[in-house]
Amino acid sequence: MVKICCIGAGYVGGPTMAVIALKCPSIEVVVVDISVPRITAWNSDTLPIYEPGLDEVVKQCRGKNLFFSTDVEKHVSEADIIFVSVNTPTKTRGLGAGKAADLTYWESAARMIADVSKSDKIVVEKSTVPVKTAEAIEKILTHNSKGIKYQILSNPEFLAEGTAIKDLFNPDRVLIGGRETPDGQKAVKALKDVYAHWVPEDRIICSNLWSAELSKLAANAFLAQRISSVNAMSALCEATGANVAEVSHAIGTDTRIGSKFLNSSVGFGGSCFQKDILNLVYICECNGLTEVANYWKQVIKVNDYQKNRFVNRIVSSMFNTVSRKKIAVLGFAFKKDTSDTRETPAIDVCKGLLGDNARLSIYDPLVTEDQIQRDLSMNKFDWDHPIHLQPMSPTSVKEVSIVWDVYEATKDAHGVCILTEWDEFKTLDFQRIYANMQKPAFVFDGRNVVDVEKLREIGFIVYSIGKPLDSWLKDMPAVA
Ligand SMILES: NC(=O)c1ccc[n+]([C@@H]2O[C@H](COP(=O)([O-])OP(=O)(O)OC[C@H]3O[C@@H](n4cnc5c(N)ncnc54)[C@H](O)[C@@H]3O)[C@@H](O)[C@H]2O)c1
Repeated sequence: MVKICCIGAGYVGGPTMAVIALKCPSIEVVVVDISVPRITAWNSDTLPIYEPGLDEVVKQCRGKNLFFSTDVEKHVSEADIIFVSVNTPTKTRGLGAGKAADLTYWESAARMIADVSKSDKIVVEKSTVPVKTAEAIEKILTHNSKGIKYQILSNPEFLAEGTAIKDLFNPDRVLIGGRETPDGQKAVKALKDVYAHWVPEDRIICSNLWSAELSKLAANAFLAQRISSVNAMSALCEATGANVAEVSHAIGTDTRIGSKFLNSSVGFGGSCFQKDILNLVYICECNGLTEVANYWKQVIKVNDYQKNRFVNRIVSSMFNTVSRKKIAVLGFAFKKDTSDTRETPAIDVCKGLLGDNARLSIYDPLVTEDQIQRDLSMNKFDWDHPIHLQPMSPTSVKEVSIVWDVYEATKDAHGVCILTEWDEFKTLDFQRIYANMQKPAFVFDGRNVVDVEKLREIGFIVYSIGKPLDSWLKDMPAVA
C-alpha cells in the first residue's frame, strides 16, 4: 500500500488529503501537524476549517485510510510520498522584509524529513514557494541524506477557499513539476498515478520544477490583477456615471477576456494573493527586473487604494466624521462560504473606521468573536504563522462589539457596510433595518450585493462600488 504523509493540516493540507483519501482507497493518507488543537479538531465533529462538502468527505474516510496525527516523525518516516503544506508567510524582518517568503517552516520540515527518513522519499512542495525553493530543499535533504534518495516535486495547489472540495474533485488542471532526469520523471509518474485515480490525464500537466513553482505565483498574480483592473475601472465609473456591472458584463462577453473574476469590490483578500505577489515582486527585484517588479506592485497598490477609497467614502458621506457613530459591519470573512479572515479587506476597513473613532458592531455568520478581535489587534503578516506561535492579542478592541444577528448589529447604527458577499445579505429586511437606524441612514455596499434602487426607495443613502453615485455623494471627495 502506498503511504502518503502531509505535513501541515491547514486549509490546503486538510482538504487536499481528504480528497486524495476519498478518491484513492488503496492509499493510506496521514495528515500531521505541530498544532495539537488543529489535529484534535480534525479528529472531532467540529473540523478546524469550514468548507462546503468537507465534513462529508472527512467522515467517509477518517479512520479508514485517512488519519490526522501529531506524531509527525513516525508518519514521515513511514511514508513513500511526503507533501509539505506548511505556512510560507511574508518575512517581517531582515533581508527581504515585507516581500520575500519566510521559509522557516518549510526548512524545518525539510530538516525533520532528513532526520527521520530511513527509506527513499518523494517530497512534494504543496505550499506556495519562491522559484528555486526545490533546489534549496534538495540541498538540505541531500547534505543530510545518509544514503537515502530524495526526489523533489512541485505540485502547487490551485483550489479556492469556499469551493475547495468542488475544485479538488474537478480541477481545471493539476500541475506537477519535476527534475528532467530518469529518477525525476519516475517520481512525476508516481504522483501522476495518484491524481489519475480521478483526474482525466489531459488535465494533469507536467513541467520542469521551476515552471511549476513560478506558475503558481503567476496564476495568483493574474487573478489578483483582474480584480485590481476592474476595481480601478470602478473608480472611473463613479467619476463618470458609468456602471461597473454593465462595463464588466460588456467586456466579459469577449471570449478573449471571459466573464469570471470581473466583479468589482472593496478589494481582494485571502491568504495568498498579496503574499504571492509580494513574493513575485521580490524575485523580480532580485533578478534585476525593476520594471516587471513595479508592474506587479501596482496590483497591490490599487487594492490598497480601493480599501482606502471605501473608508473615505463612508467618512466623507457622514459629514466628514464617524466619531462615536455606530457603524454596522456585515461580513468579515474575506469571501463567502469560508470562515477564513486572512488579509480580509474587512480588517483594513474596520481599522480605517476605528482610526476615525467610529464604534463598530460586526456580524459575520461564520467568523468568531475571538478571531475578529485577534485580527483587529494583530500586526500585518503575523496571521500567517502557525496559530500557537502568533502573538496573543493583549486586549480586545473596546470600540468593537461582535453580534450574532444582523438586526442587532444595525440597530441605532448610522451606517451599514457590507464587506462580504454572503448570500443572506441579499434577502435582508432592509425596511426593518431602516426603521431601526439613525437618520439619515447610509448603506455602503462593498460587494455589490444590494438592490440599490430598492434601498433608495426605502430612504437609504446608498453607495455601491462602481455604480452611479447617489446625489448625496456626488460632490464629496473620496480619493484616497
Ligand atoms: N489557503 C489557500 O487557499 C491556499 C491555496 C493554495 C496554496 N496555499 C499555500 O499552501 C500553504 C499552506 O497554506 P494553508 O492556507 O493551508 O496554511 P495554514 O496556516 O492553514 O496551514 C499550515 C499548517 O502547517 C502547520 N505547520 C507549520 N510548520 C509545521 C511543521 N514544521 N510541521 C508540521 N506542521 C507545521 C501549521 O501548524 C498549520 O496548521 C501556504 O504556502 C499557502 O500559500 C494556500
